[in-house]
Formats: sequence, C-alpha cells, structure tokens
Amino acid sequence: QQAAAVALESAAESVVQQQLPAEATILFGSQTGNSQRLAGKLADKLKGLGIAVTLSAMNAYKTNGLKKATHLFIVASTHGEGDPPDNALTFHEFLYSKRAPKLTELQYAVLSLGDSSYEFFCKTGQDFDQRLEELGAKRLTDRVDCDLDFEEPAAGWMANVVKALHGDGATAQQQAEGSTVPTVIVGGASSPADQETIYSRTHPFQAEVLTNLNLNGRGSDRETRHLELSLEDSGLTYEPGDCVGIYPENSPELVTAILNQMKWDANAPVIVGKAGEAVSLYDALLKHVEITVLTKPLLEKAQPYSECGDLAQLLQAENKNELRSYVKGRDVLDLLTDFAPWRLTAADFVALLRKLPPRLYSIASSNRANPDEVHLTIRKVQYDAHGRKRDGVCSVHASERLKEGDTLPVFIQHNPGFKLPANPDTPIIMIGPGTGVAPFRAFLEEREELGAEGKSWLFYGDRHFVTDFLYQTDWQRMLKDGVLTKLEVAFSRDTEEKVYVQHRMLEHAAELYAWLQEGAHIYVCGDEKHMAHDVHDALLTIVQEQGGRSREQAAAYVNELIAHNRYQRDVY
Ligand code: 2AM
Repeated sequence: QQAAAVALESAAESVVQQQLPAEATILFGSQTGNSQRLAGKLADKLKGLGIAVTLSAMNAYKTNGLKKATHLFIVASTHGEGDPPDNALTFHEFLYSKRAPKLTELQYAVLSLGDSSYEFFCKTGQDFDQRLEELGAKRLTDRVDCDLDFEEPAAGWMANVVKALHGDGATAQQQAEGSTVPTVIVGGASSPADQETIYSRTHPFQAEVLTNLNLNGRGSDRETRHLELSLEDSGLTYEPGDCVGIYPENSPELVTAILNQMKWDANAPVIVGKAGEAVSLYDALLKHVEITVLTKPLLEKAQPYSECGDLAQLLQAENKNELRSYVKGRDVLDLLTDFAPWRLTAADFVALLRKLPPRLYSIASSNRANPDEVHLTIRKVQYDAHGRKRDGVCSVHASERLKEGDTLPVFIQHNPGFKLPANPDTPIIMIGPGTGVAPFRAFLEEREELGAEGKSWLFYGDRHFVTDFLYQTDWQRMLKDGVLTKLEVAFSRDTEEKVYVQHRMLEHAAELYAWLQEGAHIYVCGDEKHMAHDVHDALLTIVQEQGGRSREQAAAYVNELIAHNRYQRDVY
C-alpha cells in the first residue's frame, strides 16, 4: 500500500512539474464555520498536490496579495437578506471599491453556500464570481451554488477545481488511471478535533438526553429548555464558542395532517437519502425531509404534478411578489391543500423535498468543566400563521417530545470565528440577551476551570426578571468566585419604557470604552436582525463619543477590532 502511495505521489509530482500552479490562495467568508471547513478541505487537497496554499478568512487577508496571486479560490456563505458574513464584509467592499486592482493575470473559482428558501440565495458567492470576472480574472471552473445539503455539491466543485488545475490533458490521464489524485491526498482532516471521532454532520452521534429542563419560571410567556446531552464514547470534543448540530424530528401532527390530506398510506415504503434507504412514508416525513419550509425551487418542481392551474400562475415571472408573500410562513401542508388536486405519488413527493437540515445551537457548557457532556439552551418557537399553529421544528421537538433517556442525532460544528482570547488574562465583554447568553455560560465555565485572571463583563437581557433570568444562579456563583467581574441586566417588560442591552452599554459607555482601550475582546450572540444591529450601532456610538471620533473614524476603529478578532459575533 505504501509503495502504491509513493508511486501515486511521484505521479502527482510529475504532474505538478508539468502543469500545476506553484501557489494558490483560498479565502473564506464564513458565519457558522461551514465555508471555513470546506476551504480547509480544499487547502488540504491542493497541498496534497504540492501547491503552496495561503488559506485565510477574507477579513484577515492582505489585499495587496491579489496583485501577485495567480490562483484564487473563494468559499463564501450568504447571510440574512443576501449579505456577506461578518468576516467577508471588508473584502467584499474592497472588491467593489475603486481600490480594487485589475486582475487580468488571475484565475479563480467560487463555491457559494446558502439556503434556497431565501430570496437572495447564494448572493454573496454570486457577487464574488461576477465581480472577479469584471475585474478581468479568468474563471477556472463554474461556480457551484449549494443549498443546505452542501456536502456533495461542494465535493463535486472541488473535484472540478482539481481537474481544471490539471488542464484537459491531465484530466484525461487522471480518468485513465481512475481517481488517483484524490487518493494521494486523503488524510488531511481540517481540524484536530475532527480526527478523534468518527461522528460528523454526515454521520451524527446518537446522544442520550441526560436532562431536559424549562429554565423559565411559572407564568412566563416563554419556554426555554436547558438540555444536557451525553457525549460519552463518542470521541466528540468542543471548545467554548462551538455549536451543536441537531437533526430534529418534524411534528407528528403535521405529518399525520399531510397523510390525511393526500390519503396516503403511512406505511408505504419510500426511498430516502443518498444510500437509498427504504423507510415508511411516515418515518420519511417525520425524520428525513423538510416539510415546514416552502422554497421557489420546490414549488417549481411540484408544479407539474398539480392539476390546479393556480400554481403555474403563481410561478409566472410577473407574480414574483405574490410568490414571495405566499411562501412566507407556509409549509408543505399548505402547498398540498392550496393547489389540489394532485397527481402525485408519495414516492414522487418525498423525492421533491429537501433533506431535513440540522439546526445549530451555541453550546452553553465548557467541555473542560463537563467532560462527556454538552449543554444547550433552546427557546421554544411556536406561533400562529395563516390560520394554523406553527412549530419551530427542533425547539418544539425538544420542548414537547424529547424525554430524558431518549437519544438525539448530533454533531459538533466547530466555530473558529467565535473564540475566547488565547490569553486568559485578556478582558472580555459579552453581550447576550435571551438564548444569546448560552455561549457565555461556556466561556465563563471555561475560565472558571482554567482559573483565568482576565476581567469579564456580561450584558444580559430578557423580558421579566422574575421568570426569564436564564441561569441566574450560575451568574451569581460566577460573580462570587470572581470569574465574572460585572453583570448588567436589562429586563425589557418590567418597566414602562423598554430597556435593552444596548441601553445598558450606553449607560456604561466610558467604562466600556476604557475596557476596549485596554484590549478587551467584545462578543455578541443572539438575534441578528434587531438586537445585533442595534448593539453594533451602540458600539459605534460609544467609540465615537468616548474616543472623540467621527462616525467614519469610529467605523474604522470597529473594523480594526473585527480584523484582529476582537469583535466576534454569533448571531442568528
Ligand atoms: P422585548 O421582547 O421586550 O422586545 C430577549 O429576547 C430580549 O431581547 C427581550 O427582552 C427582548 O425584548 C429583547 N429585544 C428585542 N428587540 C431588541 C433589540 N432590538 N435590541 C436588544 N434587545 C432586544
């Protein structure tokens, strides 16, 4: 086997000498770590071919390197309404600015990640692809836009990149020899933690539920579960700031309603997954496919099976706005009800649907302090829309049906973009209202365990002090033992005027700015759309007013913090 590997290596080397570039730059823009992991995978592949690789987050990349670069690979996800992830913002802006150089000597390829239930699906990757072309760069292989189930298309894109780097002649040679090149480079896993376990996103671990508690007091209008899962014998480990991916189950009531609507047999066998596993229709709808989200691609695929002309009508280009508002808050049961009658078999139907994607939750525990356990903070999402109760898939599964002793398929999603400072003496400021406080419990448990000396300051908020003060006793212990230096709370519905975490930040502007000047790292976790936006604004105001800067200078100061990993966000 070794001899074969040597032979393959030298075959790869001779190819290197003939055709492969000496260097390649791989840049990622990643919010939850998926793009970063895929970029790492590509780096390993290219290094295995003998190419010198520069792998970097976009915001940490010195853009004058572009003038010398010959090969550029971009892996970028799209966030919110078509926005670049935080660590892609400055690079994105740079490429669209007047400072962007002509890139006529550059060859490039883009992999983009996204979610087709969003209107601006894969927009960031598309932007990069288009902009690089405008700047004169040559596309080495076509961009691939990945939906939530990205592993396979991403692997396909990487194979295309490798083929394109070899040029056509090498491609033919490679085909003749079978997949020799990929065999040589196997083994470069992207992070050490991944090497110790066989469990991953594509092969989750069945974790036993040790504890499942409601953190909210009686009378609260919210329900937040504290889950403790066992990782015993999994080999899974994590760092503060990492996330757990959970494969949840859909609501049994919704599954039954779909079966009734279509008069399908719950026990009919259907095929799911790439391996072509046969399961009952009931299990397929419960555990394997997404039934709570409507996407335009799904409606397009379903349309030929609908015998009601309205669906074709809705998909007409001129009805774009109607389509957008139709899919919002509706699910597969609505689709099947609203566009009946159907000429659709259960098997065809299951084949149309996306694979049920995992849900990511920020870990609320330190692995060091809780060997073999992981804790999560999950708020139940349930609301009425279009005349029916709607359930958040994972949160309602966890709240209403998951019992202690049950198991849950999980994996660890490492999140290198949300990490404690390497130096435990560095001060930290943490802003985490609601379930956004979860990773800060992990941060502080870790520092407690390490006996860290650095100052820490937590800003927490929720609706009511009496019922919604998540982990209150933990914070009290941490204040007492000194690992938590300061705690600011904002209970928004205890007073006439709403108070939010950003108001507390502004009240303490001078001290907060002093901490930043001393080198503090600042972390924000929780709601993106409103909270994180307003907190960002408050931060700019503090830097502006306390530092005697203009708004632009304050923005530059905050960008510096981002570039030095001193302002990190885990927002959703
Ligand atoms: P509210 O529900 O009273 O509006 C956690 O959900 C906490 O975040 C709640 O107290 C919630 O207040 C608050 N919150 C809502 N919008 C916010 C915003 N834009 N900025 C900060 N906190 C916000």
